[in-house]
Amino acid sequence: MRRYLSLLLVALGAAGATVASYALSAWWWCAAGPLLALTGLGCRDLVQRRDAVLRAHPLAGRLGGGRAVVRERAGDVDVYADGHEFLVPSLRPVEPPEEPPVVRVGGPDCRQPYDMALLNVSAMSLGALSPRAVLALGRGARLGRFAQDTGEGGLSEYHLRGGADLVWEIGTGYFGCRTDDGGFDAREFADKAALPEVRCVSLKLSQGAAPGGGGELPGVKVSAAVARERGVPAGETVVSPPRHRVFSTPRELVLFLARMRELAGGKPVGFKLCVGSRREFLALCRAMVAEGVTPDFVVVDGAEGGTGAAPAPSAGRLGVPLTEGLITVHNALVGAGLRERIRIGASGRVATGPDIVARLVQGADYTNAARAMMLALGCVEARRCHTGTCPAGVTTQDPLRARALDVDDRSRRVHHYQRATVRDAVRIMAAMGVPEPGGLTPAHLVRRTGPTTVRSYAELYEWLEPGALLAGPPESWAADWKAADPDGFS
Ligand SMILES: Cc1cc2nc3c(=O)[nH]c(=O)nc-3n(C[C@H](O)[C@H](O)[C@H](O)COP(=O)(O)O)c2cc1C
Repeated sequence: MRRYLSLLLVALGAAGATVASYALSAWWWCAAGPLLALTGLGCRDLVQRRDAVLRAHPLAGRLGGGRAVVRERAGDVDVYADGHEFLVPSLRPVEPPEEPPVVRVGGPDCRQPYDMALLNVSAMSLGALSPRAVLALGRGARLGRFAQDTGEGGLSEYHLRGGADLVWEIGTGYFGCRTDDGGFDAREFADKAALPEVRCVSLKLSQGAAPGGGGELPGVKVSAAVARERGVPAGETVVSPPRHRVFSTPRELVLFLARMRELAGGKPVGFKLCVGSRREFLALCRAMVAEGVTPDFVVVDGAEGGTGAAPAPSAGRLGVPLTEGLITVHNALVGAGLRERIRIGASGRVATGPDIVARLVQGADYTNAARAMMLALGCVEARRCHTGTCPAGVTTQDPLRARALDVDDRSRRVHHYQRATVRDAVRIMAAMGVPEPGGLTPAHLVRRTGPTTVRSYAELYEWLEPGALLAGPPESWAADWKAADPDGFS
């Protein structure tokens, strides 16, 4: 109730001053007039749908209090700064396509391929997000026909009610398909994976914000609904185990992915990771080659990734940033002769059209966004996600606080944001003379490396030829490729 206190006090003051102006002196109108006007303004704040903070904090929200204004002005970008990157336009631009391109996800063993949009909702669980936020993302994704990743907290009723194409993520807690002793419940998995809303399933190996650690949801965010979805006690902090039980070697992981795909009726199966050692990823490639089994997609998360659940003390210091992670995964799959069968998704501060195009140049086929989608939901970057007191209703489980988020309005914004961003990416590619993403090459992205020097990605990084690792790896890859063991992580 405290958030309505300012409106309540002003309304009481207005009522008192009005009574006094009749009972005592007409001079009281000098106070009653402005107070009545403020009361009217506060009531308008309370019922309007466009501003989440004002809806949750009528009147008081107008004082500021951490509202973020996201501005991007051309003049803010220092194009001569070291590290500045730009995309290369063409003197022969092409017409952008009418419809934005989609990416077919589904390798040779997949029986129900899925056409993925260039920008989708990245993994965010019910629990990290409020039920309203999950619902608004889902409805926005359904309107725009893009995918929503459930996050590792399970396939909740709010995900299903949103009606989006879902990527069902399964983490080390196996929420939503968990046996009593915390293992993987194959039957429950198969039943839920058969739902028509589930278009892909994703096994989360690690996440950029906390690679090597299990997901954590503070007790204050474990509401009755969240507890029900996860099969855990309400109000108690949930810490997922740091590693999976269902595999302990690269080969076992690859075989488990194949089993998941069978249980899911042939729907696309993939995994998400924040890259650590290149050797470990090469071990996975070796296992895929040895077994002749591949996932349908790999999502690469950068060390710069976010989390709404718990503070991430290692954020940015553990794991490979997205640019290098993406280039490593792309090259490893190309070099192992597997790239044609596997699509690569990228998440890590993707927010604008140029961000999408840059990630495609670096090796991705499509992108996912978490925090940019939160901004579309009305996030004001109050940085209180883990406390459950989000003033914008995005990451709280308190129904009164969550009321700040109007589902209809925010789902439209999510839809418009995705559509405008993808359109921008497509227009940029057209300006680069590239009618579709497959035409992008590492020469299309350039980085300033000094006051008088720039280098394209073609020059900055090594790009392997298809099958190069199998045929005889270049010296720079030889030691890692040789040491990569399909039967053990290093
Ligand atoms: C609120 C929130 C919740 C998240 N929950 C999950 C999760 O359950 N599973 C997961 O794989 N990643 C999770 N992430 C990470 C994102 O999916 C994404 O990979 C990361 O934040 C990088 O994308 P971004 O820079 O667009 O935020 C979460 C991120 C946020 C901000």
